[in-house]
Amino acid sequence: MNVYDGWRIAAMLEHRGMARTDDVSDADIIILNTCAVRAKATDKVFSALGRIRRAKKPTALFGIVGCVARESGADAFRRIPDLNFVLGPQSYHKLPDILENPDARLLNIDLGGLEKFDSLPQMEKSPRVAYIPIQEGCNHVCTYCIVPYTRGREISRSFESVMAETLHAAKTGAIEICFLGQNVNGYKYTDENGTIYRLSDLIRETAKIPEIMRIRFTSSYPTEMTDDLIDMFKTEPKLLPFLNMPIQSGAPTVLTRMNRPYSLELYTDIIRKLKIARPDIQISSDFIVGFPGESDQDFEQTMRIAEQIKYINSYSFKYSPRPHTVAALMPDQIPENIKAARLARLDTRLNEIQRDFNESCIDKTLSCLLEGSDKTGRHLVYRTPFMQQCIVEFRDNAPELADIKITAANKASLRGKFID
Ligand code: 5AD
Ligand code: SF4
Repeated sequence: MNVYDGWRIAAMLEHRGMARTDDVSDADIIILNTCAVRAKATDKVFSALGRIRRAKKPTALFGIVGCVARESGADAFRRIPDLNFVLGPQSYHKLPDILENPDARLLNIDLGGLEKFDSLPQMEKSPRVAYIPIQEGCNHVCTYCIVPYTRGREISRSFESVMAETLHAAKTGAIEICFLGQNVNGYKYTDENGTIYRLSDLIRETAKIPEIMRIRFTSSYPTEMTDDLIDMFKTEPKLLPFLNMPIQSGAPTVLTRMNRPYSLELYTDIIRKLKIARPDIQISSDFIVGFPGESDQDFEQTMRIAEQIKYINSYSFKYSPRPHTVAALMPDQIPENIKAARLARLDTRLNEIQRDFNESCIDKTLSCLLEGSDKTGRHLVYRTPFMQQCIVEFRDNAPELADIKITAANKASLRGKFID
């Protein structure tokens, strides 16, 4: 979501005649697009602002947009007095105001809904993989999560607006569409005639666009994997056989305290249905270790579920207490050293499972999407349908979508060769 927001901000400024630079001391405006989901990310923002302040031209404007802006609000100006702007994740389209009026501080952390999507210029050229946000915010209110505070309650974009952006992306270079949302499968839009549109409708419609060869979506909440959506994996071959569906913990008592009221049976039953629809489907997850009150036995249950599902690609984090959340005030906060030890164990096992899956791909031929060339320029990097990185020898005029035979694998990536 932040990558997408960054593109829209860049397109907005380019539309006004500005150009990108990698050199802070050369920039006229410096914008940090920020994440507040864990404390470490927030802390980094303020140390980076200190560095930028010393390196920038005296006349250059600098500020923050995104979730840290929303969380800190006016306090950011107290911490960095010469900061020029603080704009929340739903008000970054107000950025040009600071260009019009550079002497006034600009603060806007309203949850203004969906205005930004339609009030910004479209990108002239789309990247090969176009991220299309379809909803913002989240109604789940997991007790550890700051997102319902920073991005607000769930709002879905209109079906027409999403499809217009998708079509525009397809006509300007996109081959893969990734629908985005904090709770992407909660997408629900009712038009003026009372017709309800779901994520499955967006997928079906997008699959009809000839330029679009691959479709995916992230991140899904388990209990919102409805049958119409599961069916898409059976009926729409363009939908990739890969799903990020975070479980967060394998311990029922922890899930209850996280306010994620699903049972392990329900979760595994959804995966069973997905495998019936699409036998080669692979699942990835997010995990939080060291949630308040997590016992050794609770953690072992997380290890067990990781083993059982064989997630091929996961993100695991130490629990980080966040402002405005219930869990931050819970008793039995887990000491840092225990969190670190649990994370190391889980990561080790997840990496081994990922390596096993990567090795199981050797000798298979996978349809892969070109991402670019590597740093040396001697290789091309492709993405498999399971989002693995696949490296092949450089070749001129390499196809954007190629059948690649996998020849070797390690934990992080695959190697392959073109079959032709
Ligand atoms: N501490 C650690 N990880 C968190 N996440 C969300 N909030 C926290 C927190 N307070 C993780 C969840 C979520 C991912 C985007 O970030 O695993 O799925
Ligand atoms: Fe946060 Fe995801 Fe839970 Fe929503 S479902 S509150 S975004 S962790």
